[in-house]
Amino acid sequence: MNLQNKNILLIISGGIAAYKSLDMIRELKRSGAHVQTILTKAGAEFITPLSVSALSGDKCYIDLWDLTDETEMGHITLARKPDLIVIAPATANIMAKMAHGIADDLASTCLLATDKPIMIAPAMNPHMWNNPATQDNIQTLQKRGLSIIDPDHGEMACGETGQGRMAEFSKILNHIDQFFNNDKLLRGYKALVTAGPTYEPIDPVRFIGNRSSGKQGYAIAQSLSDAGADVTLISGPTHLPPPQGMNVVSIEMAKDMMQAVEQSIPTDIAVCAAAVADYGVQKHASKQKKKNGDLDIQLSDNPDILHTIATHKTRPQIVVGFAAETDNVIANARTKLQSKHCDLIIANAVGGDINPVFGSDNTSVTFITDNDEVSHDNISKSDVAQLLVSHIIRAMNVKAEDKVA
Ligand code: C5P
Repeated sequence: MNLQNKNILLIISGGIAAYKSLDMIRELKRSGAHVQTILTKAGAEFITPLSVSALSGDKCYIDLWDLTDETEMGHITLARKPDLIVIAPATANIMAKMAHGIADDLASTCLLATDKPIMIAPAMNPHMWNNPATQDNIQTLQKRGLSIIDPDHGEMACGETGQGRMAEFSKILNHIDQFFNNDKLLRGYKALVTAGPTYEPIDPVRFIGNRSSGKQGYAIAQSLSDAGADVTLISGPTHLPPPQGMNVVSIEMAKDMMQAVEQSIPTDIAVCAAAVADYGVQKHASKQKKKNGDLDIQLSDNPDILHTIATHKTRPQIVVGFAAETDNVIANARTKLQSKHCDLIIANAVGGDINPVFGSDNTSVTFITDNDEVSHDNISKSDVAQLLVSHIIRAMNVKAEDKVA
């Protein structure tokens, strides 16, 4: 990670996770960043300003009414100087203040006064995280373009279990690295993502479908778009809100997905995350089938979209597939890598009670290429998406200097 000459303002608010921020300061400094810090009053109950300033090598700011700071530095200067503001840990309180424009201490005043990008790593009790007030505030902040690093699942300091633990600092550093080093590297590139299930109608009421939620494909489309790519997301029916800033095409049947894909190529990047039904109903009934009526449903092969793209005369530079397997996960995925002619297969085991994958926010995956295999256990789907984007950038050998202006 190279953060030479980057100015980062780290705001540490009141949570037990504040101690992790000390390691983070050390790592940011090691990467060459200049780190300034604000510790809220509640944050100072968990760690001391002395340890923060000893690690950052700079004063740790606490009080809005410290007149020396106002003449020497001022909260406006503090808000304007950084290239990035990171709030870690971010309490429900500081996010609520930001969402509503409250400025009653140095941290919240800086956040209101700044025009710089803000990254938030929330940490709180799972009930506080799931409270509609917190979720509404997060949505408001996301709509304003702030980036949220979702908290992890696990046991909390308070003894409860759920989502709310601040993301591991390595993950936060990864986000910071992406922000500075991967940011918009895919500008000028076209990307195509398939996501969600397909529905193959039997009659006007029934269909053959599957359990895919679309979460993984949507997260990938978002990460590609965040990296600057011009994304077309071709999605089967899901309950997810359509992501902003990209072209979203909604389909139901595999053959419609194939058609939409064909209309979107040529493209530079193709990621097939959809769970496409292998078979469609040959001739679906125009009227609802009755209980004692015709039970005979003729199936026919659906097009293999991934294979079609990967062997197309205008093949994208990189083609990525998924392999959701119930057994012999790696071996089956490796066979698929070859038979489908793709560059990378992301394999995951499905069907277990412990890790249902479908619909869940977390998964365990293995990235499989011709000569490599890298596993990531119990990782969020948005982190899989980020890792995939980093992989794509490396595989396509995209460099900052090649960036299309
Ligand atoms: O053959 P299987 O369904 O196991 O392969 C999974 C991979 O192939 C996924 O990437 C999926 O999106 C893609 N696929 C496809 N079209 C199909 C079937 C699978 O694009 N008809």
